[in-house]
Parts: sequence; C-alpha cells; structure tokens
Amino acid sequence: MTDPASYSEVLAAPAITRMTDIVLPEQLNHRGTLFGGVALSMMDRAAFVAATRHSRQTVVTVGVEQVDYVAPVHIGEIVEVVAEVIATGRTSMTIDVTMVAEVLLTGERRLCGTGHFVFVAIGPDDRPIEIPQVGASG
Ligand SMILES: CC(C)(COP(=O)(O)OP(=O)(O)OC[C@H]1O[C@@H](n2cnc3c(N)ncnc32)[C@H](O)[C@@H]1OP(=O)(O)O)[C@@H](O)C(=O)NCCC(=O)NCCS
Repeated sequence: MTDPASYSEVLAAPAITRMTDIVLPEQLNHRGTLFGGVALSMMDRAAFVAATRHSRQTVVTVGVEQVDYVAPVHIGEIVEVVAEVIATGRTSMTIDVTMVAEVLLTGERRLCGTGHFVFVAIGPDDRPIEIPQVGASG
C-alpha cells in the first residue's frame, strides 16, 4: 500500500510557485520566439496560483506594475515561471514573477523576464476581503 509519509516533500504546501512548460509553435511571434502576450499570460497564471495559495480566497489581477522581457525564449526550450508573494496589504498581494528559459539538451538557463503583479482577494459579494499577511503563520 502507498505510504503518504513517503510523499511528504511533494505534499507540503509550496512557498514558491513554479510552473514549467515547453515552448511550442503556436506560442511564437513572427520572429519565431515566444510571443510577449503568451509570456504575460504564463506569468499572470503563476502569479494567480501563488496569490491563491497564499490567501485561499478567490483572487483577481488588479495591476501589472512592471514587466520586463530581458531575453527571448526560443521554440523547443523549457520555460519556467517562478512566482512568490513578496508583500501584502489588507486585501492585496504583490507577487514577484521571474521567467527562465532552459535549453533542453544542455540545461543552460537564462533569465528572460521579470514582473510584479498585484492581486486582490474578493469575497462572495465581489468586494475585497482581508488576507493573511506575508510571514504570518497559520
Ligand atoms: C478587485 C476590485 C473588486 C477591487 O475594487 P476596488 O474598489 O478597487 O477596491 P479598493 O479600492 O478597496 O482596493 C482594494 C485593494 O486593491 C488595491 N488596488 C486596487 N487597484 C490597484 C492597482 N491598480 N494596483 C495596485 N493595487 C491596487 C488597493 O490598494 C487595495 O489594497 P489593500 O486592501 O491591500 O490596501 C475591482 O478593482 C475589480 O473588480 N477589478 C477587476 C478585476 C478583474 O476582473 N481582473 C481580471 C483582469 S481583467
């Protein structure tokens, strides 16, 4: 029988969200590199997961404070988006997002994008609802 204790590492709540994917042809721009809108969507999704994991509430994007594309991601590369809640207000969360490309056969990794996303937790009345503060336990 499967012993859940053997899986304690993967079952633990992750403090940092990592979403990993492979770049396919339908995600490219006219130059053959990852389209900026697709990259933005990947970053927003990772930030959404990080904000939801932090608050355990329904969350919505209210702001994208700064996104910088610092290097292109090429077809066939792995793209990894890393998201972490770095600050909280009463109902809002700022999520730091980093996008890294990885070359399949060499493992070389490059920083390709960074950004800050702001999410707000909303209650059943669709109004902002209080969330736990960063660093608060429980
Ligand atoms: C989320 C929403 C209900 C908030 O309503 P609101 O009237 O702006 O609420 P408030 O003014 O009380 O602000 C709530 C919090 O969001 C923050 N906030 C609102 N707009 C922000 C922005 N553009 N950037 C950063 N923070 C913002 C406020 O500072 C406040 O933070 P705090 O509670 O931690 O101090 C409303 O803006 C909304 O529904 N937006 C659309 C969200 C959406 O559909 N997103 C999907 C992408 S289109």
